[in-house]
Order: sequence, then C-alpha cells, then structure tokens
Amino acid sequence: MNDIIKLTEFTPKHQHRAYVNSAVRFHTPCTKEERLAAAIKAGWNVFQVPSKFTVGDFLSDSGTTTPTIEQLAASLLGDEAYGTNWGYEQLLEQFEKTFGITLTGKNPEWEIFLFHQCRAAEHALFTQIGCGKTGLIIPSNGHFDTTHANVEMNGIEALDIPSKKDINFQGNLDTLKLSHLADKWVPLVYCTITNNTMAGQPVSLKNMRDISRYCKVIKKPFFLDACRFAENAWFIKKYESPELSIPEIVHKTFELCDGFTISLKKDGLANMGGALCVKKGTVLFDEYPNILDNLRDHQICTEAHPSYGGMSGRDIMIVVEGLKTVIRQEYLDSRILQVKAFGDYLVELGIPVVQPFGGHAVYLDVDKFFEGTTMRREDFGGIALSALLLLNGPRVCELGAFAFGTFDPKTGKESFPPFNYVRIAIPRNKYEIEDLFYTADCIKNLYDKRDLIPRAVCVYGKEKTLRHFKARFELEERK
Ligand code: F0G
Repeated sequence: MNDIIKLTEFTPKHQHRAYVNSAVRFHTPCTKEERLAAAIKAGWNVFQVPSKFTVGDFLSDSGTTTPTIEQLAASLLGDEAYGTNWGYEQLLEQFEKTFGITLTGKNPEWEIFLFHQCRAAEHALFTQIGCGKTGLIIPSNGHFDTTHANVEMNGIEALDIPSKKDINFQGNLDTLKLSHLADKWVPLVYCTITNNTMAGQPVSLKNMRDISRYCKVIKKPFFLDACRFAENAWFIKKYESPELSIPEIVHKTFELCDGFTISLKKDGLANMGGALCVKKGTVLFDEYPNILDNLRDHQICTEAHPSYGGMSGRDIMIVVEGLKTVIRQEYLDSRILQVKAFGDYLVELGIPVVQPFGGHAVYLDVDKFFEGTTMRREDFGGIALSALLLLNGPRVCELGAFAFGTFDPKTGKESFPPFNYVRIAIPRNKYEIEDLFYTADCIKNLYDKRDLIPRAVCVYGKEKTLRHFKARFELEERK
C-alpha cells in the first residue's frame, strides 16, 4: 500500500480551499493514511466512501447545490400543510413561467406529478408505459443509468441512438436511426437535455424540432428528460439562436414535447425534488387513455398527497426560487464558464478530456488517458484512477467500461459501452476555481504516472445490475 500512497505524492500548483470554503467547512482534515483505510473499507467504491474523507466532491452535480440566500429565505416560508400547501401554488405558477406550460386556471393544458426525485417519476411513468405490454423499445439520445434501469425493469428495451454529427450539439439524437425503427414497438421517444450519458453534451433546438415533427408523423408522444434544461438552453443561445433569451429558448423547447420528467436536484437548484409533467389530449392517450388517473394513484401510494409528492414545504419553496435563478443569463454564464475554465486548464495540462465541454461536468477520456500503456479496458483504469484520486481528496465517478459494461457469467466475458469516461461533475454554486484547479493538478500527477497506476479487479458484484453502486474492488499490479 505504500506504493499506492507514493503514487499520490506530489506538490500541487493550487491549493484546495476546503477549509476556508463555507460549503465544506464541516469536514475535518484527515491524513492520506486515514483516507486509504476508508477507501479500502469501502472496497475502493467511490460511492461508499464517507464524504468527510473527500476534499472536493465531484461525484455528482445532483442535489449537491449550495442554496442561494433567496432560496434559504424562501425555505423559511415553507408551508408544511398536508393538503395543497401555499408553496405548491407558488410552484405551479413558477413551472408555468419557467417552462411556458399551463397548470392552473380553468382548463390547464398540462398535469403535474411531484416526486421526491426524478427516478421516482421515471418509475411511475415507465410502470404505466410497460404495463401488460411486451416487445416495446424506447429510443433516446442517451438514457441516464437509473432511467435505463427503470425502463428495462418494466420489460422495455432502452435504446440509445446518439448522433455526434453536429460539433456544437454532440448530445443530439440520430433521427435517421429513429426513422428506421418500427413505430409499432415505440411507445414514446425520449430525449435527454443535456445528454449526461454522452459526456453532458447539449441537444440543439433543431434536433428537438426534427424529433417532434417525426413523432407527429408516426403519432407517438415525445418526452424530454429535462434535468439540465437551462444549461442546454445556454448552449442553444451560444451556438444556435443568439437572438433569443434563455427564458424564450426554454419555452420553445417545452413547446415541442408532450411530456417531461425532471430532476429538480439539477437545474431546479434544489437538494431534492422531481416531477413528471404530461400534456393533456396528446397521442399518448390513444394508447394509454387512463394514464393520468393511474399515475395519480401511483403517486399517492408511493409519495403521498399530490401537492407535495414526497417533498417538504421547505423543499418546495427552494425549488420555486431555484427555477427563477436557473434561467438567468448571468447565473448560467458563471456556471458553465466555470466548468469550461476547469476543462481548459485540464487541456493545458495535456490531459485527454472530451471536448467541447458540456454544462455540468468535464469527462476524462479513459482510453486516451491510458493510451500506450498496458492498461486494458477489462482492467478498469477509470475505476483505478478514481480510486487513487480519492487519496488526494477529490471524489470523481467512473462512467464507462465498468458502470456501463456488463459481465456475462455464462461466457465469463465483459462487454463494454462505446465510450469510457471518468466524470468530474461540478456541483452548482459550491466550489471556487482554485478548488477545481487543485483537482486538475491531482489528475495531472496521476497522468504523469499512468504507467504505474494499478488495475482495478472487481471482487464483488461484477454480474449485478447497476453494479457500479454495489461493487467492491482490489487494486493490483497490471499483468
Ligand atoms: N436523468 C438524468 C439525465 C440524470 O442525470 C439523473 C440523475 C436522473 C435522470 C435521475 O434523477 O437523481 O433526481 O433521481 N443524475 C445524477 C447524476 C444522479 O449524478 O448524474 P434523480
């Protein structure tokens, strides 16, 4: 283990401000040996390492946002009534303003179902879509891991058909491949903005318009996974429609769809919350006439009263404020340009990253990182790299050969996804650029020593579903 510690010894150019940064000041300083003991106890699984051992937690941008003063103030006004709390009314109005949909008044066009987070909304939706049916396929530009699992657990195939043709919008869906699918098996078309699975790349308005138009032709509903809708709008403004404001772009986006799921833990700028919104009277109801009632029953049975859906009144108020802030140009500029500054510095250090950068994370290209070394995909270099980074403090996440790969116990073989990334997801309103540069310095140290990085051997859980959450590893010398 001394050899492993040695690999992480270096003098960084930048210092992490963890102990002066209010967002992380409750963390007690710890030694590298203590971190090593914690990592071994966790089987080198980054999800299972207690956060107190991290200095710079980039495991996820989800639910990790530091609330603004406005959000904190609003939370004090949270109404904890069981039925139709005051915050719910605010929330409906804010959803109307932010997304340009109608939820109140005499004949609102849309219906909303609140959940404690997005995967509960996905579970509700796909339980209804899959119910009693076989052979269905849901095409998407990229299903997120839990979305994929929720789709497949309901007996539906989750099919990713991304397109990288547009350099500025590499999160797009391949509409040609979409048109080759037999419509009768497709209950809906799904599009994730931004495309988290494909390195957080944005989707163009043109692409969404094309999908929407095609869906109208084949009479199928078009749904968005809208977790990072505001960041996506920022890219549309930059590369496609500079004449439009962010709120206008958001409205134009949501005009195109028949429904959407959203995690309010991302562009809701909240620590919890999710929703499913469904437009009434669309083609969805041809196949699923009772879906609204069924969804409501599902929500009441699993989350509680429709007006709070698993969220407290305080959390609802935090979302109300979050949905105002997130569509402000100056907020999005500071957010996305911080991610870019971090990515640019990694490039300056010569580290292979996916470019252009997306809105919420920088993705290391693991295959290129280990190019020219003896590290093979089945050695899970991304897992080993993330494991070693932990010893310097930063926590990042492998989203590649291990997370999206599968092990077949019959053949004893691994199969791999087309990409192999480690994601450094940047929490919103939390870190300063110095903190990110420190993380980059730590990555550069390991890049310089890439020949010496051990392989990660999965000693538990390689055959399991969602295995990256459950697995344990040992670090061993490469063959
Ligand atoms: N869809 C996308 C595109 C996501 O990125 C996530 C979560 C979800 C759905 C599920 O939302 O967490 O509220 O249930 N992504 C987080 C991440 C966990 O780290 O990227 P949730």
